[in-house]
Amino acid sequence: MSDPVIMIVGAGQMGNGIAQVAAAAGFQVLLHDVSPELIEQGVNAISSRLSRSVEKSKLAAQEKTETISRIHAVSSLEHAAGADVVIEAITENMEVKASLLRKLDVICPAHVIFASNTSALPITELAAATGRPSKVIGMHFMNPVPVMPLVEIIRGLETSQQVYDTAEELTRKMGKTPVEVNDFPGFVSNRILMPMINEAVYAVYEGVASVESVDRVMKLGMHHPMGPLELADFIGLDTCLSIMEILYEGFKDPKYRPCPLLRKYVKAGRLGKKSGRGFHHYA
Ligand code: CAA
Repeated sequence: MSDPVIMIVGAGQMGNGIAQVAAAAGFQVLLHDVSPELIEQGVNAISSRLSRSVEKSKLAAQEKTETISRIHAVSSLEHAAGADVVIEAITENMEVKASLLRKLDVICPAHVIFASNTSALPITELAAATGRPSKVIGMHFMNPVPVMPLVEIIRGLETSQQVYDTAEELTRKMGKTPVEVNDFPGFVSNRILMPMINEAVYAVYEGVASVESVDRVMKLGMHHPMGPLELADFIGLDTCLSIMEILYEGFKDPKYRPCPLLRKYVKAGRLGKKSGRGFHHYA
């Protein structure tokens, strides 16, 4: 495919990260969200990350200008008609994502590929919301997108080989490494990561150790860059809970039961770094 236009739907933490790496790789990027303010916040986040890279002499000022110039804020979803690939990075909820895909299916010509950045929802079910299941695929980026090299690529039952190959090629062009995984709840990344985080919450809940001690054990003992509770705060405790729910629902296995303390924190609005408080406090 020659220089596809990529539309990103969802300008939050994941969406603006994907927009940044796509634009840095030379693609024209359309960035959309439900309000112009949210798109502006996304573009500002990209701009300040790129400015930091310029300050650290890791990026030329000209490259920053060029990257930003390739990102086009679009407040109407109808612009998806001009894209070749639409990557959705919206709320982690099947009905919300399926509803978006149904709208895109009406707007976009038949050749347009739909990629979902879902962290755990079944791609086959998302694909079934459209009339083009062969053109729907999972492209699961990791947070923070500009730093983490992995993209999990998930085929739905009907995903075509050509669409799979395109997703791999785009991933590589964005400077990331694709890893193919099958369509099971949580894929590989969250099948393994989230139960570890959930177990860390249980360790605190059951009084095995303090939050600080659990994180210190995993950082110093296992060489993890962040402790599991610090990482949970970074990902968002609401996201962690919803992924555990998807694993629990999807496998019907009690080993995936979300810890009651995780539920309690989410109900209290302690969502982690984004709300100023989770397992840790943030200024
Ligand atoms: N966005 C963009 N860049 C960031 C960043 C952010 N939020 N945070 C840090 N960086 C960059 C810094 O600018 C720095 O870049 P340079 O080397 O070019 O200067 C680099 O990352 C290292 O940063 P720091 O030295 O400040 O901090 P660090 O060494 O502690 O690294 C970290 C920060 C990369 C976030 C590291 O702590 C880490 O790898 N943590 C684990 C992250 C992780 O596990 N992510 C996966 C989450 S799970 C997921 O995403 C899937 C899901 O579905 C939930």
